[in-house]
Amino acid sequence: MSVHKLETMDREFRKIPSENYISKDFLKKENENLWPRVWQIACREEEIPNPGDYIVYDIADETIVVVRGQDKSIRAFFNVCPHRGRQIMEGCGHTNNFRCIYHNWTFDLQGKNIVVQDKKDWNGCLDAENIDLVGLKTGTWGGFVFVNMDPNCETLEDYLGVIPEYLNPFEYENMRYRWALELHVDCNWKVALEAFMEGYHVAATHSQLLEIAGDDYTQSFSRGIHSHFGYWDTNPIMGTPSPRLKREMPKDARPGVVEFFRQMEEDFGAIFTDRDYEAAKKVFDALPADADPMTVFGTAVMLGQKAAEEEGCGYPPNLTPEAMYKAGTGWNIFPNCVSLPYFDGAVWYRARPNGDDPSKCIFNIWSLKRYGPGKEPGAKTEVHENIEGKSFGLIVDQDVANMTKVQKGMKSRAFDVARPNPVQEVEISNLHKHLERYVLGNAPR
Ligand code: FES
Ligand SMILES: [Fe+2]
Repeated sequence: MSVHKLETMDREFRKIPSENYISKDFLKKENENLWPRVWQIACREEEIPNPGDYIVYDIADETIVVVRGQDKSIRAFFNVCPHRGRQIMEGCGHTNNFRCIYHNWTFDLQGKNIVVQDKKDWNGCLDAENIDLVGLKTGTWGGFVFVNMDPNCETLEDYLGVIPEYLNPFEYENMRYRWALELHVDCNWKVALEAFMEGYHVAATHSQLLEIAGDDYTQSFSRGIHSHFGYWDTNPIMGTPSPRLKREMPKDARPGVVEFFRQMEEDFGAIFTDRDYEAAKKVFDALPADADPMTVFGTAVMLGQKAAEEEGCGYPPNLTPEAMYKAGTGWNIFPNCVSLPYFDGAVWYRARPNGDDPSKCIFNIWSLKRYGPGKEPGAKTEVHENIEGKSFGLIVDQDVANMTKVQKGMKSRAFDVARPNPVQEVEISNLHKHLERYVLGNAPR
């Protein structure tokens, strides 16, 4: 198919300096030149459904409060009091106004100052000052709330570029949190994110998947500042062994297909759903033992669609097989998000620095799913500031186990550059190409 037009840099062997991950100076420059200028996801719309609902989003040294106003519009403000600088709101909740508890200065949900305690003491001098909260630009796509600190930034639409073209068919806006994790990990935010930006690691890191995830050889492409990877060359038949194992195709393909959905459900609980797993088990009744593997997997998918329709969640109407093929498997939404979508659910990852240590990050994992009306579980974020000795399911555990080891290895004097695979890890090369443009100060303003 011609959907995979190569951009000039694709297939280029690009080396990435270790400084990008371990240097305090690079982190400082990210804080100065990257985060203040990119559109970034602060929360999901579902986290602030009603007027007065708010949530705080911290990024690097900034704290931002996102709120749904009485007019239902979403607004965002720097979460800092113009009196003497106290951070105003914390966490999330519901409020009629923003009140700074230090000296009672208060702001309405549009950021306007409505109370200065003992204002007469300033003898009119405050009138010439801006004592409202400072607003940020906001935008929404796919049920996500984006913010941008730069008043002169490009529009969200321009920034997203091809993302809607490729990902709108999945209807992220019709998904809701199934579960949400926030992990504080001892690695750079990019080390955490990059663990999900390629399929090249699957054979080694998730070797159990080789038995049932078909051909695991991937390709990857840049799409402007964003990028994706997929299995376009191999079009793997889920439920069958990877050619790397040099096994015969099973005579009965049904157990392998059900096992694929079982592992995705029990060892991950994201992308595919519990509903898909339950539906897949019905292939034993629907098909004979000698049905070919493609038919078995296709039937399992169709049974999942039927189950979704019966539960009132429907199937995204624009998600044709062509649209799914075109999108591929996983996306980097520049700079700090990754998503792997399916018709019934998706996983979404977001990584950001934690404080001024390049070896620390806050890493969110969101499992999103389509629900029937009123069936959303209203999942709240589970925060783990210490992940030592904890398990988050086999797949996430396997990915997280690499993160701190990569961070440690990268600090070695023997390691100066990373060497991403020019076919399978273009997402990583492309991230750094554009990251360096921003961070080192030569991205267009
Ligand atoms: S710092 Fe907020 S009221 Fe004084
Ligand atoms: Fe992984």
